[in-house]
Amino acid sequence: MRPPRVRRVGAAVLVVVAIETVAVLATAQDALRFPKPDRPVARIISPSYSTEEIRDRHGEAERVMDHLGIKPGLRVADVGAGNGYYTVRLARRLGPAATIYAQDVEPRYLRGLVKRLEREGIRGVTPVQGTPGNPKLPRDAVDLAILSHVYHEIENPYEFFYRLWPALANGARVAIIDMNKPTQDHGTPPDLLRCELATLGYREVDFVSLAPADGYLAVFAPPETRTAPGSIRPCTR
Ligand SMILES: C[S@@+](CC[C@H](N)C(=O)[O-])C[C@H]1O[C@@H](n2cnc3c(N)ncnc32)[C@H](O)[C@@H]1O
Repeated sequence: MRPPRVRRVGAAVLVVVAIETVAVLATAQDALRFPKPDRPVARIISPSYSTEEIRDRHGEAERVMDHLGIKPGLRVADVGAGNGYYTVRLARRLGPAATIYAQDVEPRYLRGLVKRLEREGIRGVTPVQGTPGNPKLPRDAVDLAILSHVYHEIENPYEFFYRLWPALANGARVAIIDMNKPTQDHGTPPDLLRCELATLGYREVDFVSLAPADGYLAVFAPPETRTAPGSIRPCTR
């Protein structure tokens, strides 16, 4: 049996270790505390925007893919893929050897998309189930992330784009397609988008209207290094 003094010292060491562990965990949590966006976030209500017929009649996907220079070899993530309007058109253009991630936060939308890909005999697409704050894409795996009619539904874009960053390979781009409408009406005003992404260090490199299709296409280059969550200055409306 150990003498009482040794037991007291042992207990004191345990208390110090426990306090230090709590302090380290608290600091780690604090470091990953993201500010909330200072504007409404739209609810997820549908796996698609408009109808594919109308979008194709207006040449939306062709215009977007031409503008982004989509060609075989490019590794693309359709983030918030929904019914896969972009996923299937990317797959047709990139061919069966393509690397395409069809990502979504809603498991039932993703299941529906997997069935669609099987039905249409489309290969080369990897489904990825994300969480509201994390797209969960593999590291350094994506040259282009497309978010079509998704941005305004992302609960916390500061956290989401912070966590998207590791998936973006050197020279990658992020393409956002959205409507110039308030976020609660399922759009994102371009100035708000620029401000929220700029605070994370994403730099706008292109912006075009998609007329006669709906909305705009804004393209961003990710930062070299990530902005620490504690340094993110939230945008005000
Ligand atoms: C209006 S639909 C657009 C679908 C498709 N991109 C299109 O252009 O038709 C929005 C999609 O974004 C998804 N979404 C919303 N928040 C998300 C998040 N945090 N991460 C991934 N997907 C998200 C929804 O589940 C839904 O499938």
